[in-house]
Amino acid sequence: MKKSLIITQQDVIDNISLKEVVDTVDRTYRWYGEGKIIMPSKITLNMDTLGLPNWLNSMPAYVKPLDMVGIKFVGGFKDNKENGLPYIMGQILLNNPVTGRLRALLDGNLITNMRTGAQSPVFAKYLACKSDILTIIGAGVQGTYTALCMLELFDFKEIRVSDLSIEVCQNFVKEVSNKTSASVIAYDSNKDAVKDADIIVTATTANIPLVYREWVKPGAFISCIGSYQELDEELILKADKRYVDHMGQNLHRGEFYNCFKKGSLTEKDIVGEIGDVICGKVAGREGSDEIIVASPIGMGCLDIAVGAVLYNRILKDHNEEVLEFDIISSENNLIAVN
Ligand SMILES: NC(=O)c1ccc[n+]([C@@H]2O[C@H](COP(=O)([O-])OP(=O)(O)OC[C@H]3O[C@@H](n4cnc5c(N)ncnc54)[C@H](O)[C@@H]3O)[C@@H](O)[C@H]2O)c1
Repeated sequence: MKKSLIITQQDVIDNISLKEVVDTVDRTYRWYGEGKIIMPSKITLNMDTLGLPNWLNSMPAYVKPLDMVGIKFVGGFKDNKENGLPYIMGQILLNNPVTGRLRALLDGNLITNMRTGAQSPVFAKYLACKSDILTIIGAGVQGTYTALCMLELFDFKEIRVSDLSIEVCQNFVKEVSNKTSASVIAYDSNKDAVKDADIIVTATTANIPLVYREWVKPGAFISCIGSYQELDEELILKADKRYVDHMGQNLHRGEFYNCFKKGSLTEKDIVGEIGDVICGKVAGREGSDEIIVASPIGMGCLDIAVGAVLYNRILKDHNEEVLEFDIISSENNLIAVN
């Protein structure tokens, strides 16, 4: 009987590239649009009412084309940075969809960062108009991975970044400059950073307006990946089109949540989900002047799909260095299939 695998962060680094993650996210959105994935809305466990400013999401999904079911358990831990840990911490379990047998326990941090970084480029592939200037607001982990994944799809002339922390901005400039010949420039004003930008991504932990309607040029594509509201409400409400990754989840969380709660937006004001755009079920961009705002709040099926690609690769090249464990006691091992 095959044992379950432990897939560490180093295994992730060694076995999948950002390009493959971007492609996997693209394919997975399409499969979701085609009805080949089952994925309920994530459940959020907020610990703040009992004194911890932290949250954890349970994100199950069945990805039929990859023959994989699983769940990611991931959260944001506010004081982690001070303790030398990342803000986002998570694990993924992958199971056989026929037997339920555990196939693998995976580090979820790096997979989260890579697939989160891949979301905005894939949205931009289908919804952006031009790609000369990219602006990232929030130069932390997700902002940096977003810029790196963008480079897998676009050839920018200029990449701009802005963040509350100058040090974080400098790290971003160093990291991203190493991977592109485009000029990578740190700004200390969001207004200057978004001027004339074709693609804007907000990737902060903020819950305040960081970008205003009058700062943004016609034709801009704006993707908000922070967990709270990062755009001024007027920019959300006056955008020509709004898209999400998963409608149900966006009613509970993310960029449009406050507007839904207040009633200034309803489901009808969202053109659709990106999977439906990719499949041609709903319209994408229809004019070069349209300002489009998207909220990819994050789908568990992306983590399961990336995990499945990794699992299959590691299984294929299985060597002594892969950690294995047997989670079912030997007496109860009635099912001996993969
Ligand atoms: N959409 C998704 O799928 C998804 C997945 C993972 C994380 N997230 C969210 O992305 C956000 C960023 O996560 P991270 O892991 O990059 O955290 P991080 O702590 O590494 O980076 C956040 C950055 O935001 C900056 N920031 C905070 N307030 C700001 C402000 N007012 N103006 C400018 N910059 C500001 C911080 O200085 C920091 O550099 C979080 O809200 C997280 O929950 C979303």
